[in-house]
Amino acid sequence: MRVIGLISGTSVDGIDAAIADIEGTTATDLRVTVLGGTTVAYDPTLRERVLAACAGHPLTLPELAALDDAIAATFAAAAHTLTTTYGAVDLIGSHGQTVFHRPPNGRVGGLGYSLQLGRGEVIARLTGCTTASNFRAADIAAGGEGAPLVPPVDGVLLRHPTRDRCVQNLGGIGNVTVLPARDRDQPIRGWDTGPSNSLIDLAVQHFSDGTQSYDHNGEWAAQGSPCLPLVETWMTHPYFEQTPPKSTGRELFGWDFFARCLRDAEPYALSAADMLATLTEFTAVSIASEYRRFLPRLPNEVLLCGGGSRNAYLRSRIQAHLPDTTITTTDEAGVPADLKEAIAFAVLAYWRYHNLPGNLPSVTGARQAVCLGDLHWP
Ligand SMILES: Nc1ncnc2c1ncn2[C@@H]1O[C@H](COP(=O)(O)OP(=O)(O)O)[C@@H](O)[C@H]1O
Ligand SMILES: [Mg+2]
Repeated sequence: MRVIGLISGTSVDGIDAAIADIEGTTATDLRVTVLGGTTVAYDPTLRERVLAACAGHPLTLPELAALDDAIAATFAAAAHTLTTTYGAVDLIGSHGQTVFHRPPNGRVGGLGYSLQLGRGEVIARLTGCTTASNFRAADIAAGGEGAPLVPPVDGVLLRHPTRDRCVQNLGGIGNVTVLPARDRDQPIRGWDTGPSNSLIDLAVQHFSDGTQSYDHNGEWAAQGSPCLPLVETWMTHPYFEQTPPKSTGRELFGWDFFARCLRDAEPYALSAADMLATLTEFTAVSIASEYRRFLPRLPNEVLLCGGGSRNAYLRSRIQAHLPDTTITTTDEAGVPADLKEAIAFAVLAYWRYHNLPGNLPSVTGARQAVCLGDLHWP
């Protein structure tokens, strides 16, 4: 079956789209052949509207509906880019754009809440292709975090027979999939490790007066030195105390947190480069610290993916904090690092289409494995 997967993450940089042939009926005999992929940037005005919604700016219901449809149209256009090159597909899986994520609060009835815009029915209508969307809702209804959803797909694509691996996605938020070597017979785990590029991107926009949106290859941060007392202060954030399962978003590590970072940094009179080095160090330290706290042992290998895997300085800082671990990218294991999350939503759609469960309760904390996503016919 030929499937397109679509996602835009917390960075709100654009829609990652991947096209793959998927065969097999169960999660254990699945074969995924990636044909290609692309990233379609958001129109700048639409991106501003998305970021404003994420930042909690008030929105009327007609505005919400219009935003939902505009995002869906952009996702459909991203799918169209691929079908123009590769021809028609049988199925689309769309994660949509998260604009709000609240984990379950542990109280009776306190289910999580997660809102993805870009409704699947519009994508199905615009593309003429069956579309699965709204993947997080069923896991949340089963008491789960609704996130992360990619770990079972990582388990199929990237688990190693004898080496313990962590797959670390470096999007706006960082998330890890823990893949114990197959011969250990231990469950896959996964959770959001904290900020990844979100604060770095905000700092770059701040210090470049909006002329740049990210620190290309980490070149700006590499010119500075991290201020370690600040990193220590930020590492006292309660999120790092929480035991997994756990998930987060721009709600915790977005604009408000960045404003606090700027205030905390005032006494140190840091240069822009020092501030970027400090925020990059925070990401690297938080990842290594989450591994040390919550894994029975450090992994043999960390496979990076997501846009932050292109940040050479960030990668070198992660390596510095995990000196005995091999740090590579998923590219080296045959899964394109920029497309992995999009590929995952193609696979999740395929599982939905075949009524196979998509979540891992060991990851999300859901009571049971359930079918994820709603199917929409054109
Ligand atoms: N060459 C690069 N150097 C440094 N950072 C990069 C590079 N390319 C992408 N990024 C970072 O990756 C982010 C996008 O990554 P992505 O995996 O799409 O995240 P998300 O899933 O949150 O959208 C950008 O906002 C930027 O911070
Ligand atoms: Mg992105």
